[in-house]
Amino acid sequence: MGDRLSSQPRIVQIPISSLYVHIPFCLRKCPYCDFFSRPLDPAQMAAYPDLLIAQLEQENRRSRWQGPFSTVFFGGGTPSLMHAADIGRILQHADQLFGLTTDAEITLEANPGTVTSESLFAYRAAGVNRLSFGVQSLNDANLARLGRIHSASEARQAFQWARAAGFDNISCDLIFALPDQLPEEALSDLEAMLQLAPEHLSCYGLGIEPDTPFARQLDNGELRPATEETYAEIFCLLHDKLVRDGFDHYEISNYAREGRQCLHNLHTWQRHAYLGIGPGAHSFRTRDWGERRFVPPDFEAYEVALARDRDPTALLETFDRNAAMAETVYLGLRCADGVDDRVFLRRFGIRFAEAFPHAIERCGRRLTHRHGHWRLDLQGWLLFDHFIRDFL
Ligand SMILES: C[S@@+](CC[C@H](N)C(=O)[O-])C[C@H]1O[C@@H](n2cnc3c(N)ncnc32)[C@H](O)[C@@H]1O
Ligand code: SF4
Repeated sequence: MGDRLSSQPRIVQIPISSLYVHIPFCLRKCPYCDFFSRPLDPAQMAAYPDLLIAQLEQENRRSRWQGPFSTVFFGGGTPSLMHAADIGRILQHADQLFGLTTDAEITLEANPGTVTSESLFAYRAAGVNRLSFGVQSLNDANLARLGRIHSASEARQAFQWARAAGFDNISCDLIFALPDQLPEEALSDLEAMLQLAPEHLSCYGLGIEPDTPFARQLDNGELRPATEETYAEIFCLLHDKLVRDGFDHYEISNYAREGRQCLHNLHTWQRHAYLGIGPGAHSFRTRDWGERRFVPPDFEAYEVALARDRDPTALLETFDRNAAMAETVYLGLRCADGVDDRVFLRRFGIRFAEAFPHAIERCGRRLTHRHGHWRLDLQGWLLFDHFIRDFL
């Protein structure tokens, strides 16, 4: 009997883990954006893949991360400025050092103004199987206002090239609530994007970030931001149109065709582990209640640390039980799946309703409890910052 039992295959739970690779270069900085990036310097870009590989090797020696990675996300900045051969080399090293699952989702963020038919074929051949295009708008006046380096027809062309190169999982970013934009204009922009038939859409309301040219234009009275009413009207119009067209509104800003949700981001929102490499990248370890580290957004410091084989990362925050519960709710309520009662109880030894009775009461009808999941409705998502405050 003992022998028979020991010959049974053991079921081993492999924890989900992901890799994020930050590419901190852009051809030109867009006036609304505060993501960490600097103007492209060809010499720095040529040296950068080896730095990323050196960090991967260092992380492997430190044994802080367990593979295999089931998702890899090249984000930016503008990852489509990196040669496909270098993207391929980074993937090979990630595979050798940590392992990549056979069906790993491998996403590359691409600025439509930086790709060619050839480069897209090469990314596909290098192993990238999901593209996220920063289209933003298919209206040339909007693209000019946003300081983009491409026209609407160039964005359409890039999308068609990607299809021809074999990409069957493409996302497009749309920015809405632009200064002076009317709700019907935002809807037409979305309709133009739907003509491309992407599998996934990220719809972001324009945020005026501190220390950006748009923030300065706001201060000078040269930029009139959308009112809260217009923002809400557009948010609901886009939701109605996309849901009617069969998209799943699976996170506040994200919509997907069935089975095309971005797994990488879902894992992040579910607080699975991810390793982030490159200056500006964040990492999350699930040990104890969780620990977040980051690589400071300083390219030179990153180069120096790796040249001396020093750890380029710094501790950002260590979670205790309460902080982990709060973050679980913050990330969970952003998603259509919401917070799962059973998962919450298993993880924290307390029911969601017992942990947050007052915050739940203050959400009123905006927070529903059905089939063991707590979810914010559309109006709740619109007022997310307001409702979430009581949970934090
Ligand atoms: C790293 S960029 C995408 C890839 C590439 N850099 C590009 O712009 O084409 C990530 C996305 O964040 C969104 N984004 C950046 N800053 C934003 C802001 N201030 N308000 C709304 N969306 C923003 C844009 O849609 C952008 O495509
Ligand atoms: S939106 Fe994209 S291209 Fe523009 S500055 Fe930000 S990261 Fe760079």
